Amino acid sequence: MSHGLFGGLTNYGDRDFARYLRRSFARSMGVSGPLLDGPIVGIAATGSDFNNCHRAMPELVDAVSRGVLAAGGLPRVFPTISLGEVFLNPTSMMFRNLMAMDTEEMIRAQPMDAVVLIGGCDKTVPAQLMGAVSANIPAVQLVTGPMSTGRYRGERLGACTDCRRFWGRYRAGEISAGEIGGIEGNLAVTAGTCAVMGTASTMASIAETLGMALPGTAAIPAVHSARLLAAEASGRAAMALTMNPITPRQVVTEKSVENALRVLMAVGGSTNAIIHLAAIAGRAGVTISLDRLNAISDETPVLVDLKPVGEGYMEDFFAAGGMGAVLRELKPLLHLDTLDVEGRTMEQRLDEPLDFVDRKVIHTLAAPVSAVGGLVALTGSLAPLGAILKRAAATESLFEIEGRAVVFENLEDLATRIDDPALDVMPSDVLVLKNAGPRAAAMPEAGYLPIPKKLAQQGVKDMVRISDARMSGTAFGTVVLHVTPESAVGGPLAAVRNGDRIRLSVKDRRIDLLVEADEVARRLSDHQLSPVPERGYAALYQRHVTQADRGCDFDFLMGR
Ligand code: FES
Repeated sequence: MSHGLFGGLTNYGDRDFARYLRRSFARSMGVSGPLLDGPIVGIAATGSDFNNCHRAMPELVDAVSRGVLAAGGLPRVFPTISLGEVFLNPTSMMFRNLMAMDTEEMIRAQPMDAVVLIGGCDKTVPAQLMGAVSANIPAVQLVTGPMSTGRYRGERLGACTDCRRFWGRYRAGEISAGEIGGIEGNLAVTAGTCAVMGTASTMASIAETLGMALPGTAAIPAVHSARLLAAEASGRAAMALTMNPITPRQVVTEKSVENALRVLMAVGGSTNAIIHLAAIAGRAGVTISLDRLNAISDETPVLVDLKPVGEGYMEDFFAAGGMGAVLRELKPLLHLDTLDVEGRTMEQRLDEPLDFVDRKVIHTLAAPVSAVGGLVALTGSLAPLGAILKRAAATESLFEIEGRAVVFENLEDLATRIDDPALDVMPSDVLVLKNAGPRAAAMPEAGYLPIPKKLAQQGVKDMVRISDARMSGTAFGTVVLHVTPESAVGGPLAAVRNGDRIRLSVKDRRIDLLVEADEVARRLSDHQLSPVPERGYAALYQRHVTQADRGCDFDFLMGR
């Protein structure tokens, strides 16, 4: 039930005084008495001049407020940290947990009966969902929505798969500096998140599947009027939750997390989503096992034909039927008794028919884009606690290989030597990057190691690449990521040396360092942890960040 303005009183040792003072100060904001007496819906706004993906935040906030007011409640907008993916140093990943803490504490500390969380860019939706599950106050997730595509000399462009595609061609000498400049101005041309099924759109799809976002809202383009209608509806839904509360922990459960994993596979989603979903689930005390992930991947076909794996962009996905069409197609594989923020089960949600599905973009279960899911987990002597490969975006001829390791000790070493004409590297080699995991480097999206320039210029498009880093959800290639434990904490990755043999077997779900265990132990025996910074958030981060298998959440924030 609603507590309105008097929820969570400030401590003065006199409750009546606290009520009197709060109401008096609230009146200074010019809000009328009847509204102050009713339910309050918080709106977590994450607009920032350092976050292009959230450029439409003001009109989304207005639309959510409209929905709350129309339903008889008082909207209260409050800011939290915003994370613009490409504007943060060293990586946005380092600050996801900080944003989750900010979100959780501000939801809990301020008087609100429900909250609408508005996020979009890669780390913001995971952070908001993590915070919401921990605060456990009724919450509705609204995403800012994907960008629309641009054009360059007749070709359709969308961030950020095309960013990488053209940068690769520029590195290979196929296009000029003038052309790359022209492309730069046309890759990201509207408000909204990256235009493909990258991390942001994958997380939006997951939020809708979990039941935390309203049905049909994940894929609406950022600049479409339907996005504002979705915002208004989210405000009304949050108001309904003030009367009949459903908490995030009733929505985020083992079953809804399994449904989200299915969708992650079916949309050919981002590898990053595994980490974020593990962290969100972890807040509810739910763990994701690698065996279960692989079983779900083997049972769940890829249904959508979108970049970076396929052809289309998010605007095509929306026009084709969006998540509603995907979920209806996946229905035989889903848990149907999960609950959403509108109080409906998955079965009830999917009972309503869709009037149109474009099968060029969203395939049927019977005729999928690919028979198996997009991601697989690997284990083996190189990654005892797991690693991830996006097989849907990889080169099948590289799935079963044994190659010679070409090792880069860290990001700086990579940047210094990758294009050195003297680098001893062949197309059949395995590129290995160390010290780019959560503890060492806040897990940058550096796992998509560039093909060494001299090989790129010979036409080499893909090689096996292995690291403890992440990769952008918009990237592609035979890239083994999230090797756990990371090298900085003494994982076997730290023991790899130039010339060692490494074997990848996607069929067996294995990644192995072909060096005797005694020799690996000897090499690791003098491994030392790097010193932890002495102050500030960096110290908190390094002391408490967990490994990728636990979602890189802080150990003290995880649920039980
Ligand atoms: Fe924000 Fe891609 S940079 S979603």
